Amino acid sequence: MDSLRIEGGVPLKGEIVVSGAKNAALPLIAAGLVTDGTLRLRNVPDLVDTGSMEVLLRNHGMDVGRTGDMLVIGGSATNFDAPYDLVRKMRASILVLGPLLARYGQARVSLPGGCAIGTRPVDLHIRAMQAFGAIVELADGYIQARAPGGLTGARVVFPMVSVGATENAMIAATLAKGTSEIVNAAREPEISDLAECLIAMGARITGHGTDTITIEGVDSLGDATHDVIPDRIEAGTFAIAAAITGGELTLQNARARHLDSLFEVLRRCGITIDENDDGIRVAANGGIGSADITTDPFPGFPTDLQAQFMALMCLADGSSRISETVFENRFMHVPELMRMGADIQVDGGIAMVRGKPSLTPAPVMATDLRASVSLVLAALATEGTSEVSRIYHLDRGYSDLEAKLGQCGARMHRV
Ligand code: EPZ
Repeated sequence: MDSLRIEGGVPLKGEIVVSGAKNAALPLIAAGLVTDGTLRLRNVPDLVDTGSMEVLLRNHGMDVGRTGDMLVIGGSATNFDAPYDLVRKMRASILVLGPLLARYGQARVSLPGGCAIGTRPVDLHIRAMQAFGAIVELADGYIQARAPGGLTGARVVFPMVSVGATENAMIAATLAKGTSEIVNAAREPEISDLAECLIAMGARITGHGTDTITIEGVDSLGDATHDVIPDRIEAGTFAIAAAITGGELTLQNARARHLDSLFEVLRRCGITIDENDDGIRVAANGGIGSADITTDPFPGFPTDLQAQFMALMCLADGSSRISETVFENRFMHVPELMRMGADIQVDGGIAMVRGKPSLTPAPVMATDLRASVSLVLAALATEGTSEVSRIYHLDRGYSDLEAKLGQCGARMHRV
């Protein structure tokens, strides 16, 4: 198992090109199943997770080819099973349910099972498919769904905001007979990116980016070429890297309006953030102020940046209260940060962090994707040698992290 050895204490300085968004690319690749035409996706990040989704589509019988950052998806599905050994590696596999049902009237998708950050149920996905008229049974750890006469448009009201369930419902509705409305829909930029791609294929969608999305069903979808939006979580991670190491980074290809909630908090902590023609410049100005955050669906503070922000608050002047409201167990980075001397107390979904002038280097262990990068950030800010183990978690969501940070002065290498 790979580890990252990090010599910390060096302020990062330079430019970083932000890659395409993992959490946009995954539903976009799944959407390749719903069209009769060919889908060309550009700016697709080269990650373990996008690779898993490509394997899953090939498993369904699709033609999937990658040349550089372009993915070309065509052909048609001949196998409607998403097996456990593929799905358990990547929960986002559940996103094949909607497109398979919409276009082929059948799907047999393994229940994804939980992961480190929570039980991750898929009940909202299933209820949305049932609302569209699908017959869904759970047996042998699989979701067995069928819609022999096709799907029928419906009004789907989600009791809570779910990114994945909104995406599954939106894709399914594109081919359902009649009009569908998704109420209490997720508003993440990745939802809007998926809607724009589906519209390019011929879907009729309005309201994406708001909490109510309306879809007029069409008979079939055609060819499309679509550029994946930049990864706001990767960009936010690098912004925090500049702040925590006391450096200055310019983020290229990032979209500032996708990071309003993070940037508002970082500015309150004394970090300079300017948008210019080169991109977004993030610069530390000496100390780091403390600030409280509560994670929320977009446009609130992203849960996917909570661990990274906590690492920053461990070195802030003062205390901060971090409330995680989206997932029930997303503090796995806390015991590891405490091994580096961080002063954190957890009570349910609340973490109280008392900032300190410095942490101490230590061997630490990654547990999930965003926890692993928060440990890398803490190590980069700490004089001495730290080692982050089980970094296969990191490779799921960050491409070329060592290269990107290394070119800005980070001393880190894989062992
Ligand atoms: C997406 O996961 C992202 N993954 C997650 O990013 C992100 O943390 C999450 O949205 C929230 O923004 C991808 O886009 C591939 P949800 P998703 O459905 O869709 C509960 C990362 O690090 N829920 O919005 O699975 C669920 O348990 C990953 O890149 C149900 O109860 O998240 C959670 O508590 C981690 N029933 C809450 O809703 C359901 O049927 C929000 O989950 C579905 C979800």
